[in-house]
This record gives sequence, C-alpha cells and structure tokens, in this order.
Amino acid sequence: MPWKGGTLRQFFRNSGHLIRLAAVLIAGLCVFLLIRTALIPKAFGKYGHYSPGALDVIRQRPVSYAGQDTCVMCHDGEAKERASGRHAHVACEACHGPQAAHANADDPSAHKPRLPDVANLCRRCHEKDAAKPAHFPQVVTAEHSGGAACNSCHQPHNPHL
Ligand code: HEC
Ligand code: HEC
Ligand code: HEC
Ligand code: HEC
Repeated sequence: MPWKGGTLRQFFRNSGHLIRLAAVLIAGLCVFLLIRTALIPKAFGKYGHYSPGALDVIRQRPVSYAGQDTCVMCHDGEAKERASGRHAHVACEACHGPQAAHANADDPSAHKPRLPDVANLCRRCHEKDAAKPAHFPQVVTAEHSGGAACNSCHQPHNPHL
C-alpha cells in the first residue's frame, strides 16, 4: 500500500489501547521488580547462585556425625578389623548412627552409644533385591540365617567367614 501522510496521524489517534496495554505491562514489571527485591536475600549471588546467609543457618545446627577419622583414633581394634575385610569402606557411622555426641565428648564413656540392632541393620544393605548390582553380596535373609542373628556367624567389622 502506498504511504499516505495521514496514516501516521491516524495511527496515533487510534493507539490509545496500545498505550494502555504498555502502561499495564510496565506497571506489572515494576511490581515484579519490587517484590523480587524484597524477597531476594541480601548478598545473594556472592558465591554464585546461592545465598551466603544459608551458611550461618546451617552452622547453627548441632553437629551429629563425627566422621570415621575420629572414631579410628580411639577404636584402633575395630578399625583394624574392618580394614582387613570387605566392610573396609563402610563408614563406622553408617552402622553406628551419628555419634558426634559420643566421639566429641570430654568423657566418651559417659555417652556410650547403644549397639546397633543387628536384626534390622544388616538386611538394610544385604536383603536380596533385583535393583542391586549383581556383584553386591546379597541374601534372602530369612532363608539364609533361619532367624539366627547375623552376628552369631558373621563378625560385623569383618563379615567374611
Ligand atoms: C576420644 C575417644 C573416643 C572416640 C573419638 C570415639 N570413641 Fe567410641 N568409645 C570410647 C570409650 C572410652 C568407650 C567406652 C568403652 C567402655 O566403657 O567399654 C566407647 C564406646 C563405644 C561403643 C560402645 C561399646 C560397647 O561395648 O557398648 C561404640 C559402639 C563406639 N564407642 C563407637 C564409636 C564410634 C562409631 C565413634 C566415631 C564416631 C567413636 N566411638 C569415637 C572412646 C571413643
Ligand atoms: C557393618 C556395620 C558396622 C560397621 C561398618 C562398624 N560397626 Fe562397630 N559394630 C557393629 C555391630 C553390629 C556391633 C555390635 C556387635 C555385637 O553386638 O556383637 C558393633 C560393635 C562395635 C563396638 C563394641 C565392641 C565390639 O567390638 O563389639 C565398637 C567399639 C565399635 N563397633 C566401633 C566401631 C568403629 C570404630 C567402626 C569404624 C572403624 C565400626 N564400629 C564400624 C557394626 C558395625
Ligand atoms: C551400610 C551398608 C552395609 C551394612 C549396614 C552392612 N553391610 Fe555388609 N557389606 C557392605 C558392603 C559395601 C560390602 C562389600 C561389597 C563389595 O565388596 O562389593 C559388604 C560385604 C559383606 C559381606 C561379604 C563379605 C565377604 O568377604 O565375602 C558379608 C558377609 C556382609 N557384608 C555381612 C554383613 C552383616 C552380617 C552386616 C550386619 C552386621 C552387614 N553386612 C551390614 C555394606 C553393608
Ligand atoms: C548360621 C550362620 C549364618 C548366619 C546366622 C548368617 N550367615 Fe551369612 N553367611 C553364612 C555363610 C556360611 C556364608 C558363606 C560364606 C562365604 O562364602 O563367605 C554367608 C554369606 C553371606 C553373605 C555373602 C553372600 C555372597 O553372595 O557373597 C552375605 C551378604 C551374608 N551372609 C549376610 C548375612 C546376613 C545379612 C545375615 C543375617 C540376616 C546372615 N548372613 C546370617 C552363614 C551365616
């Protein structure tokens, strides 16, 4: 269509709805930016897509796991036994549960851990399950043990027979 001088004038005369639409969009954008500023924690992004304030929140939580390097310092016997068997890479606290209260205490014997409940402990990892890799040692516990406690035959720290 050939350009006519009147078209531009007509465009502006009839563009009230477009301007209102633009105004609504800009107002929406402002509201979004205001809410975003209010919600994003201070210092967000200092360490990448992360809120540094979360570190303080996490630090306030009590420590529950001591880590096995700590256990090994005092329980040399169990550590040596474990190192010579296929539980060598199963962490102490994977079986004994979180023990920071015991391991980091001034007097560990005053916070002596309860021994694991063997009836539930071993089958948690060793119950036969098609989803486990075939090379992982697994048994149908009820048939395998005939109801006897696993540690009546296997020594938990070195389970080989
Ligand atoms: C600072 C030394 C120390 C550290 C570290 C330590 N323990 Fe102990 N642990 C002891 C003492 C002492 C006893 C009590 C021994 C007793 O009275 O027979 C004990 C007892 C235990 C018992 C109970 C033994 C029983 O016969 O009932 C378990 C289980 C145990 N510790 C596991 C752990 C684990 C797991 C860790 C690591 C998270 C750990 N300990 C770290 C010193 C320590
Ligand atoms: C595969 C699970 C498992 C792992 C891994 C394990 N334990 Fe144990 N531990 C047991 C069980 C079960 C008993 C209780 C044995 C019983 O009642 O005869 C036990 C008993 C103990 C005892 C009491 C004394 C004894 O020998 O009966 C101590 C101390 C101990 N464990 C420390 C450790 C430490 C330290 C580590 C890591 C180096 C560790 N355990 C790793 C399962 C485990
Ligand atoms: C947290 C998981 C876990 C728990 C709990 C656990 N095990 Fe194991 N067990 C393992 C792993 C991992 C291996 C080594 C697998 C490998 O070498 O591929 C293993 C290996 C074994 C083996 C094979 C040993 C060999 O030399 O052929 C036996 C038997 C065994 N465990 C018995 C037990 C008994 C009994 C308990 C309970 C006291 C127990 N396990 C608790 C993870 C566990
Ligand atoms: C009556 C004794 C006895 C009891 C109780 C017993 N086992 Fe065993 N277990 C054995 C013997 C024997 C073997 C074969 C030894 C071997 O090949 O290393 C074995 C082997 C295993 C293996 C290795 C299987 C493989 O494919 O390499 C696992 C895992 C195992 N037992 C777990 C357990 C668990 C978990 C319990 C408790 C529910 C338990 N056992 C109770 C005697 C026993």
